[in-house]
Amino acid sequence: MDKIVVTGNGPLNGQIPIAGAKNACLTLMPATLLSEEPLTLTNAPRLSDIKTMSELLASLGAEVSSLQDGQVLAMSSHDIHNHKADYDIVRKMRASILVLGPMLARDGHAVVSLPGGCAIGARPVDLHLKALEAMGAELELRDGYVHAKATGGLKGAVHEFPFVSVGATENALMAATLAKGTTVLKTAAREPEIVDLAECLIKMGAQIEGHGTSEITIQGVDRLNGATHPVVTDRIELGTYMLAPVITGGEVECLGGTRALVGAFCDKLEEAGVAIEETDKGLKVRRAGDLVKAVNVTTEPFPGFPTDLQAQMMALLCTADGTSVLEEKIFENRFMHAPELIRMGAEIDVQGGLATVTGVKRLKGAPVMATDLRASVSLILAGLAAEGETVVSRVYHLDRGYERVEEKLGACGAKIERLPE
Ligand code: UD1
Repeated sequence: MDKIVVTGNGPLNGQIPIAGAKNACLTLMPATLLSEEPLTLTNAPRLSDIKTMSELLASLGAEVSSLQDGQVLAMSSHDIHNHKADYDIVRKMRASILVLGPMLARDGHAVVSLPGGCAIGARPVDLHLKALEAMGAELELRDGYVHAKATGGLKGAVHEFPFVSVGATENALMAATLAKGTTVLKTAAREPEIVDLAECLIKMGAQIEGHGTSEITIQGVDRLNGATHPVVTDRIELGTYMLAPVITGGEVECLGGTRALVGAFCDKLEEAGVAIEETDKGLKVRRAGDLVKAVNVTTEPFPGFPTDLQAQMMALLCTADGTSVLEEKIFENRFMHAPELIRMGAEIDVQGGLATVTGVKRLKGAPVMATDLRASVSLILAGLAAEGETVVSRVYHLDRGYERVEEKLGACGAKIERLPE
């Protein structure tokens, strides 16, 4: 297992290209199961989670070829001969549950292991299952697996989610494209990844309206065709790298970024005293003064402040002027980066879903441990601004969601290297 060593090296300046979104790609890939014709994704990110999804799809009988250095994924599901998504693959990544809806919609049966993924709370899949049940699926939980059947196919239904779930919306949306009749999904997630999925499904021949709002209407069709689709820009990678110049005091242009992807995040940064300029190539970011101001942050479903940027924002606020309160409303156990930041000299008090961060002058490098995907990158950001050397171990979490971190930050002047542990 590798570790990453970061040494505080002053302001970062330059340009960082932002990749296609991991979370969009992980839901676009299972969409291949809905059609016998090829689905090709361009602008795919090169990440271990994408490899895991490729492995899962291949285990079901799909052909997945990674072309152009991993940036193009050519998939074909004309021969799906296995309908069981095995625990050995599913446990590596929660998004694996997204093969359930498509397989069930296509062939009327599927067996999928209950998922694993980042240890950031209980994260059940009940909302996914209830939506599929509303469409007529018969489900049974046995031996750690969901056994699903839809004799005679799925049927359109009006279904209201009790609260917003990105994954459950994606699973239900994919399943509904091939269900008989009309499906209305209420309290649907509005994330850009949902819009991207809907746009790809529409290219494949699906009839969908209202994506990007909290009510999506899907008119089921008999079959879907192939398509080629570019994966939307990764708004979490974008937000993460926007913080690099803010935390170090330089100026970085994040290529491919748009304000629409990270609106609430930009609003908070501006409140903290950050200058953001939308250019024709992306978003140019710099800290306006010597210090950022403390701000309060509450995570919410899109268009609110994303939970996936909370850890990185906390790293920034550790050296802000004043006291900030971060409220985590999506996941109940998502402050595992706080004790690691405290090891670097941060002043953070966590009480349930609230973290109070009192800015200190400067963080100090320390050996720290990545506990989940976003926590790991928050420690790297903290290390960029800290005095001395920060050694982040367990970086396999990082490799699930960030491609070529050392290269991207290194090109802007960061002193960062990957070493074998
Ligand atoms: C997706 C993202 C993840 C992000 C999260 C919230 C992917 C691959 N991952 O995860 O990076 O942090 O959205 O923006 O896209 N819940 C239930 N029952 C369910 C489903 C969810 O109780 O059946 C709960 C979860 O525990 C959580 C909340 O609902 O507290 C929101 O989760 P959800 O939006 O489903 O997140 P994911 O789709 O897993």
